[in-house]
Amino acid sequence: MLRKKLIAGNWKMNKTVPEAATLAQEIAAELGRVTDVDIVVCPPFTALETVGKAIEGTTIKLGAQNMHPEAGGAYTGEISAPMIRSLFATHVILGHSERRAYFGETDAFINKKVLAALTNQLRPILCVGETLAEREAGSTLKVVQTQTEGALAGVTAEQVNNVVVAYEPVWAIGTGKVATTEQAQEVHAFIRQLLTKLYGETVAQKIRILYGGSMKPSNAPQLLTQKDIDGGLIGGAALEARSFVELVSAAA
Ligand code: G3P
Repeated sequence: MLRKKLIAGNWKMNKTVPEAATLAQEIAAELGRVTDVDIVVCPPFTALETVGKAIEGTTIKLGAQNMHPEAGGAYTGEISAPMIRSLFATHVILGHSERRAYFGETDAFINKKVLAALTNQLRPILCVGETLAEREAGSTLKVVQTQTEGALAGVTAEQVNNVVVAYEPVWAIGTGKVATTEQAQEVHAFIRQLLTKLYGETVAQKIRILYGGSMKPSNAPQLLTQKDIDGGLIGGAALEARSFVELVSAAA
């Protein structure tokens, strides 16, 4: 099954609005007409509108880095799916390990977000991945299974076509210690098998599974040739236009 590669940039808590405008303009200038790779940029909430304007009319899509599952209400500091959609974003990163670690997000809470995103025509980029301690304990596949099944509870076969999964080994995020191709492909293949069990072969083969965790232009080519690695969720290398462009080229 040939799945179109996707490269998504998770800018995390970086870039003021002017800085975000500059980066988005640089990326749009270089990648604005690319059609053989799907591209998503996910700036901080504060820059969603500005980045959205900078990429307007290009093939590049806009994503948020998180959202609250409720449509509105007394949730100080939170952002809802309708608010994100009103800025013409199409994707939203959910379940990132940093939100699980720093903000105590559980599989059940992430599941509520996934369902709310799908209800609001947002495409979740669902993050799963194990910590170093879990890998060293031999629990990687069990952890990934629990996170994936927990986040996708109640998601129908029709809805899951709009979900992108990102396998991000926590020990590789921001560390420069990228997973080996064997390590990454093993978990990606496992996720594919899990999706097949949950939704059947035809649906599972269409779902893109991204790798995230120190993916750089230097290591992307060997990762992206793996059978079940359909792209990358990029942190550090997404903050410079040059490296982000090189990653998209590696995926083409
Ligand atoms: O969500 C992507 C991010 O966690 C990966 O970060 O800096 O290791 O590419 P980085």
